[in-house]
Amino acid sequence: MTHSNTDVGIAGLGYAIPQRRVDNNYFTRFVETSDEWVVQRTGIKERRWLEDHRKPSDLFTEAAQKALDDSGVAAVDIDLIILCTVSGDQQGIPATACIIHENLGCKNAGAFDVQAACSGFIYGLSIGSQFIKSGTYKNILVIGGEALSRIADIYDRNSVIIFSDGAGAAVLQPHSVCQQGLIEDLTLGADGSGAQFINRPRGGGAEPITPEILAEGTHLIRLEGRQVYRFAVSKMVSLMKWGMEGQDPDDLCLMVPHQVNRRILEKAMEMLDLTEEKMFINIDHYGNTSAGSVPIALTEARDQGRLEKGKLVVLAAFGSGLTWAGARIRW
Ligand SMILES: CC(C)(COP(=O)(O)OP(=O)(O)OC[C@H]1O[C@@H](n2cnc3c(N)ncnc32)[C@H](O)[C@@H]1OP(=O)(O)O)[C@@H](O)C(=O)NCCC(=O)NCCS
Repeated sequence: MTHSNTDVGIAGLGYAIPQRRVDNNYFTRFVETSDEWVVQRTGIKERRWLEDHRKPSDLFTEAAQKALDDSGVAAVDIDLIILCTVSGDQQGIPATACIIHENLGCKNAGAFDVQAACSGFIYGLSIGSQFIKSGTYKNILVIGGEALSRIADIYDRNSVIIFSDGAGAAVLQPHSVCQQGLIEDLTLGADGSGAQFINRPRGGGAEPITPEILAEGTHLIRLEGRQVYRFAVSKMVSLMKWGMEGQDPDDLCLMVPHQVNRRILEKAMEMLDLTEEKMFINIDHYGNTSAGSVPIALTEARDQGRLEKGKLVVLAAFGSGLTWAGARIRW
């Protein structure tokens, strides 16, 4: 292994969302809710859910292929695939990253999954960056994707209305090679004392699945939204402050936060005195795609011409674990 301190850049981006649109009225068949409640409390008007005949890995592969095409890097030249997800094809065995490895034909790559929920993609960026910084690898594919509709409880109105499906991906390279998207800094954090607030309570190693668990649906995601709401706002704000610490405020091009809840993002904007011109929000039509949300938003922002070369983009995410993560990128 060589030792270096190579700067890391983002050579390509891509995202994929299912065609199937699910509006808020859909849920009224299963639980007592309304379009008005969901729009007012979350900002979500509709979300995309994976079609029944498709697997999560199909969606993740589509996003990854787009990022590869965008970067111009051939699948055989990828050294490592890092898939960030909590809703892969099977229950962790095998890692869904290996299925993507086969789908894409990344014959020369290692592959593994990372679980950091909504903070996953930035955790993946951080891990991938270390391999490039150290000079170990040259081309790394980082994917953040979820098919949360497959592990959401349709009878739990507290959670099912926010979760959705989507994936985004980035190809990392030495910045000297790709000359764009310089990753200047990254931060990761966790607080396990909040582990019970967003979880799948039963059906894992602690309490293996039983007919009773299946009947009550406690193997599916539960969210105690009210418990983490304030923490989510303050964490978003502190990550965004971290991203701009010591920087010229005029250099800020865009904040790209995890699309957790429009109200949380609006509160963060108010506390930071930012307008929506400086904050990317697409939760209205995609919902909360957990690990997919940051790379989808980053790619859409780039495609809409909202990333200016040489200016700063700050990524910020918060989620189950509890975990959080931030990245500052000079585009
Ligand atoms: C989940 C979330 C949207 C809920 O919104 P909220 O304004 O906090 O709503 P509450 O949970 O306080 O519930 C308020 C009331 O609405 C009810 N309610 C919950 N879901 C509802 C729904 N889909 N439709 C109608 N009413 C609903 C609750 O039962 C409660 O009723 P009560 O006052 O009689 O007990 C919000 O808390 C949130 O986004 N939290 C942060 C989530 C987060 O950070 N996640 C991390 C990454 S995924």
